[in-house]
Amino acid sequence: MIIERQEDVTDAVLSAMSGAKNARFKEIMDSFVRHIHAFAREVKLTEEEWSQAVDYVAKLGQLTNDTHNEVVLCSDAIGLSTLVCLLNNGNEGNTETAAALLGPFWRMHSPKTANGGSIVRSPTPGAPLLANCLVRNGKGEPLAGVEVDVWHSSPVGMYENQDKEQVDMNLRGKFVTDAQGRFSFRSVKPGCYPVPVTGPVGDMLRAQERHPYRPAHIHFLLYKPGYKTLITQVFVDKDEYLESDVVFGVTKRLVGDYKKRSDPAPSPEIFGEWCSLDYTFVMEPGEATLPVPPIK
Ligand code: BEZ
Ligand code: FE
Repeated sequence: MIIERQEDVTDAVLSAMSGAKNARFKEIMDSFVRHIHAFAREVKLTEEEWSQAVDYVAKLGQLTNDTHNEVVLCSDAIGLSTLVCLLNNGNEGNTETAAALLGPFWRMHSPKTANGGSIVRSPTPGAPLLANCLVRNGKGEPLAGVEVDVWHSSPVGMYENQDKEQVDMNLRGKFVTDAQGRFSFRSVKPGCYPVPVTGPVGDMLRAQERHPYRPAHIHFLLYKPGYKTLITQVFVDKDEYLESDVVFGVTKRLVGDYKKRSDPAPSPEIFGEWCSLDYTFVMEPGEATLPVPPIK
């Protein structure tokens, strides 16, 4: 088709793409082209702005490597990751869900750790934390044999892969629920932290006068064949950033009850003040799949 007017371009592209054999691929690409063309028309995108956008996307890729994923970070910071999560969980977005975005810091092969064991693998500041968790299905029955990945940042605000002071796999562990559907671990109470701001996502946040903080949280990934893999986070209640998470990950269901305790801890290794977290995860029947790890 020879293009006569700007309006013709969209139809020409849709027609050129019409031979795609994979129906879902075709549906997604058709919609993408219609929306991105409509977007360019709506904002009357200039050539200079288009060039800046191309540069921006290229930088997202250039800054993505084995230990950092700027593309995921960008998706998170514009709310796309949370939107996709909510569209695909909780009865396709119609009811509340216990799921949350994966974030850019999940690693495969976290060290297997016995129930009650510690995921503090090198000296780490922060109040000792004891987490006692239950996993059940929608009928309230306990789920045994669920593999649970746990990971969180140090109270200093960095994941081990970002911080030379922490050993490999610090504050990461893999647990298996017992016959009563329980798993438990020791760690330190996490703190809030800023997402990385040295790349293009940081440029965007500054231009929008947004702060870069996430409220303190612990990440969980629960896997059991026959159940939809549950990827989620449990946030520290009363955190100052609960209402303004830079990546829009907080739902009411995910605010945990992190209790400050001064009674003797049920662990001989904890003295003085400590913190407890009791939390129940509910898994829905479905397919157990694992996401592609954002970093290695
Ligand atoms: C995180 O919680 O690890 C995270 C999520 C989204 C962007 C950056 C960090
Ligand atoms: Fe996190």
